[in-house]
Amino acid sequence: MNKSNAQFYQEANVYSPGGVHTSIRNVDPHLIFTKAEGAYIEDVEGNRFIDYQAAFGPFVLGHNYPKVNERVIDAISRTDLFGVGTTDLEIELSKKICQHVPSSEQVLFCNSGSEATYHAIRLARAVTEKPKLIKFQGCYHGWHDYVARNMLSDWDKIGKRDPGSAGMLEEAIENTLVCTFNNLENVEQTLKENQGEVAAIMVEPIPHNIGCVLPESGFLEGLSKLCSEYGALLIFDEVITGFRHDIGGFQKVSGVSPDLTTLGKAMANGYPIAAVAGKKEYMSRFNTQPGGDVWFAGTYNGHAVGTAASLATIEVMENEPVHDHIFRLGDRMRSGIKEIHDRLDINAIVTGIGSVWTSYFMDSLPKNYGDLQNNDGDLYVAYRKKLIEKGIYKMPMNLKRNHISYSHTEKEVDQTLEAIDDVLRELVRE
Ligand SMILES: Cc1ncc(COP(=O)(O)O)c(C=O)c1O
Repeated sequence: MNKSNAQFYQEANVYSPGGVHTSIRNVDPHLIFTKAEGAYIEDVEGNRFIDYQAAFGPFVLGHNYPKVNERVIDAISRTDLFGVGTTDLEIELSKKICQHVPSSEQVLFCNSGSEATYHAIRLARAVTEKPKLIKFQGCYHGWHDYVARNMLSDWDKIGKRDPGSAGMLEEAIENTLVCTFNNLENVEQTLKENQGEVAAIMVEPIPHNIGCVLPESGFLEGLSKLCSEYGALLIFDEVITGFRHDIGGFQKVSGVSPDLTTLGKAMANGYPIAAVAGKKEYMSRFNTQPGGDVWFAGTYNGHAVGTAASLATIEVMENEPVHDHIFRLGDRMRSGIKEIHDRLDINAIVTGIGSVWTSYFMDSLPKNYGDLQNNDGDLYVAYRKKLIEKGIYKMPMNLKRNHISYSHTEKEVDQTLEAIDDVLRELVRE
């Protein structure tokens, strides 16, 4: 392959609108990645980067992880997809998820986080016989009409009507109410104003779609109490936090048990599979169970590739110190960055949990999306662009988190800290 990044990108634009297959991927510089291994990704021109973008989170073990790949190859050399009944892989994986994820009495597989959140919401509506959903400003739960509003809203749209797409059904927009993260009074007020109408509260227990805004003590417990009080289901969208922060998800860490959980991403270290899990009493409403009245279907559900990859990923987590390793490196990264900020007197804070970190260019920890107006977005993007020039790949967009994998080592973290030091010095001088 001797075409350049630019030539490939130009060609891609001929055949696909914008040349990419997910809107958010259309970022400058337009790099065409052709190789991935461990902590590294490489573009078509042979430039190698330490990867922290991790394809928005799945790569918790690292790219092209041998034990996962071997399990997938083994699975597809004997099986693929039958579209009838179930498979040994599906049964084994269901067992593992119910064993590890505290609120999971039963589980069903689909292919993407968006499908999982759609199914969870529809189930909640069926169970409660109520129409409305509460989500939080800044949280992302996929692209479908029920949830695609008030994500990275313009500042003047915070908490106001802000559909994410043209073509959305008006009724879907109106039936999704938007609250402020870490503000229980606001949630209670919304529940009161919509008494008897709210089917579910859906929340990213840590809103990683705006970097890393941590829940304040009591917030998730408070949501659980309010749900019981107002007859709504609590749905934890653990598509990012699940398996990354603990093999049992953030519900295990926080001790708060939701009614339903959605899982994806780190569940299978980059292979396509997602899940909806929860109490048996609710899950048995799905029509995979004879007599169930909530539709659940998908041609590729439970495909051998995703189930085998997920089994292998979970088994590595069971048998090796994955979380110890990524948490230790996360701490090393955060304390290293803090030292750089302090030494260079940069108006910035570094925050995160476990393997995830974010530097915000502001002077206090944000509690919700609104607080992020204080983040210097231009500096944030310039910083990430300059890091790419130094071989550190972080998506050059505002408010994006970074992920460490089990394949990263002290060497990569220290090299990244050196690059951060250089880049911040340059930016301070400019
Ligand atoms: C918290 C959360 N939920 C759901 C989704 C949607 O998942 P998918 O892109 O697999 O449809 C995402 C994707 O980024 C996510 O971050």
